Amino acid sequence: MVNLVIDDKKIQAEQGSTILQAAQENGIQIPTLCHHEELTSSGACRICSVEIQKGRRTKIVTSCIYQVEEGLVVNTRSDRVLNVRKLVLQLLMARCPQSDVVKEIAQAMDVHPQPRFQLDQDKGKCILCRKCVEVCEEVVGVSAIGFSYRGADKVVGPPFMEPSQACIGCGACAYVCPTGHIMMEERGDERIIWDKHFKMVKCKVCGRMFAPEDQLRWISETTGVPFDKLTTCVDCR
Ligand code: SF4
Ligand code: FES
Repeated sequence: MVNLVIDDKKIQAEQGSTILQAAQENGIQIPTLCHHEELTSSGACRICSVEIQKGRRTKIVTSCIYQVEEGLVVNTRSDRVLNVRKLVLQLLMARCPQSDVVKEIAQAMDVHPQPRFQLDQDKGKCILCRKCVEVCEEVVGVSAIGFSYRGADKVVGPPFMEPSQACIGCGACAYVCPTGHIMMEERGDERIIWDKHFKMVKCKVCGRMFAPEDQLRWISETTGVPFDKLTTCVDCR
């Protein structure tokens, strides 16, 4: 275990855990946006910034990736921290002015858009945090989406922004997206995501449409479980 102080509270945290985890386990709230417990943190949004002190030196770090250290002193609400978060939010509001989540966090922190940051109208609600790409690569294992273009033109989606051959329609990307950027729609017996239409399969017991056929075929191919055995929904198994 490691001894540290967060907001004047002496705490112990497991070696290898992050400042964010240590704070949350001790009831200390730090705002987050791109952090997802099941995925590797990439420190993309920086809303979770905190100030650390080591000896006489202080610096701002990203709490969802910075690991606890013996003797570390952490301040989650210093003026410097609040200023960094304010700037981060102003930049995020300019990058994706349509994002309700960003607006809500900004409102709660009394942060307002700054005219000096030019509004980006191309990215919808996307904050380019990469969670969708990560879950598709690391958890689902199909790598159907990624980033295209560079700099200010960078966007997330399937290659060439065309329906991806690799996509199985599982919707994991939409599930982990912190801003609701990824539209997934169920229409009749179809699911539509990233402009690709997937035929949904009905549970052979209750008749509810529960998964895209492509997803079940992919699971069958990668696990060896016969397709027919996968056509019963979780509730009816
Ligand atoms: S679509 Fe969502 S999860 Fe993917 S990069 Fe954008 S904000 Fe992050
Ligand atoms: S929540 Fe830590 S960088 Fe986004």
